[in-house]
Parts: sequence; C-alpha cells; structure tokens
Amino acid sequence: MKLAWATDVHLSHASEAVDEAFCADILDSGAEVLLLGGDIAEANNIETWLHFVSERVRRRIYFVLGNHDYYGGDIASVRERMRTLDTSCAMWLPRAGVVELSEHTALVGHGGWGDARFGNFEEPALLNDYFVIRDLHESTGGGNPLAVMNNLPALQRKLGELGDEAAQTLLPFYREALERFDEVLVLTHVPPFREACWHEGRISNDAWLPGFTCKAMGEMLREGARDFPDTEVTVLCGHTHGSGEARISANLLTITGEARYGAPGFRIVNVK
Ligand SMILES: [Fe+2]
Ligand SMILES: [Fe+2]
Repeated sequence: MKLAWATDVHLSHASEAVDEAFCADILDSGAEVLLLGGDIAEANNIETWLHFVSERVRRRIYFVLGNHDYYGGDIASVRERMRTLDTSCAMWLPRAGVVELSEHTALVGHGGWGDARFGNFEEPALLNDYFVIRDLHESTGGGNPLAVMNNLPALQRKLGELGDEAAQTLLPFYREALERFDEVLVLTHVPPFREACWHEGRISNDAWLPGFTCKAMGEMLREGARDFPDTEVTVLCGHTHGSGEARISANLLTITGEARYGAPGFRIVNVK
C-alpha cells in the first residue's frame, strides 16, 4: 500500500500556486492515503487549510498537530476544534484511535511536544512557541524573553506535562496496534528520540534538544517495541526540518522528514 507523507508543510507560508502544485502532485502520485505530520498552518486557519488540501487531493487524510498549529491560540481549544472537525475532510489522529490501513498495518499518532528533558534547559534556544501559544506564555507569566528566562522551571514543568500527556494519550492505541498488527506506523511531529533529532545533517545541540525532542513519547514507544519484538514499528516525525533516519532497536525505526518554508513537499511510504 502506498501512502503520501508530508510534514511541516506550513501552507500559509507558501504562495497559493505552490500549495496548489503540492496538492496536484499528491493527486498524481497514486498514493491511497495522505499523512500530514503537523505544522500544517496556524490556530486561526488550520480548518481552512485542511479543507483546501482535502478538496484537491480527494483521498483519506490523517494528521497530527504540530506546535505551529497552536500559534495564536491555546492548546485545549485547538484540540477541541479538531475533535469536532468534519471527518470527511480529515481525521485527527488521537481522535481516530487505531486506524487499520490494511490487514497487516495500523496507523496511530499524536503530535507530541518538545518536553524539555533532553539537552540543557538552563540555556535553551527560545522557540516562538513560548511567546505565541497562550498556555506557554501564561506558564511564565509574561510572554517576553525576560519573563521566560526568569521562569524557566515553570516553563519546563509545563512542557514536561505536555510531553507526558502526549505519551499517555497515545499509549493505549499504540499497545492495541502492536497486539493486533505486524506493522505499526506512528505519525508524530516532534522527534521522540535524540537520535532522530536531525538538523542540517547532524543531531541538534543541547540548546535545541529541549524543544526538539519528546522524551516521554520516545520511552513509551521504545518499551512497546521491546514488548512486541515481532512487530515492525516505524515512526514518522518532523519539526526539525532536517531529514535523517535512526534505527533505535531491531524493530523500531524513526524517519525524520525534511521541510522548507514556502516549499511544501511529501514522500511516498510503502507499507504491507
Ligand atoms: Fe515546522
Ligand atoms: Fe514544529
């Protein structure tokens, strides 16, 4: 079975002609299903862009949310909107549970969150997330760089909670998929392993790792793969905009997808 996987498409950053060409190429690819790995657009326009893609590619779409999809909004209300989104347009993955792609292969997913557990959060790279996602700027009581730097422990706690919540939400679906299928595809946004945190051909440094990895998700995924050694697990992630592959264990492979603002692209993934 042939899938198209696109991560970090940032559709509102490209011209409409480029977005039209992106959709036309997916339509021409012959892929049966489209996976969107987060950073699709922003909080105020994500539904519009999901409809834009859906009307043009005319096939099933499954997606996870990336950090940019919450920009200008708050986490709970964006997720609530995805829970009630018209499913003929696109299906948000935690809501979809375990998706049976074929009799052999299941799809599960959650966007994850950079949970500030890898790298050095005493001197972190300051992501825009900390200023333009309401929950995060409220956690430091400010929304400006000084407030963030003065309240790093509070921000780190909040990011840790979001990482834990991502792992806990995905856990039951992941375990069910591991039990029932030979192959499990996990769609996420934030790389769940340090080894998957590719940026410009190398692993991100200690300043970027806190925002670029979801350790809670990685531990959960690694444990499941260990408990089901006969099931092949492939994790598809993005967020760093750098590409690479990392084999985490005998049956657990992570693929990080390349991305460029203004130039949405996709690749084909074949499953059983
Ligand atoms: Fe992105
Ligand atoms: Fe991202």
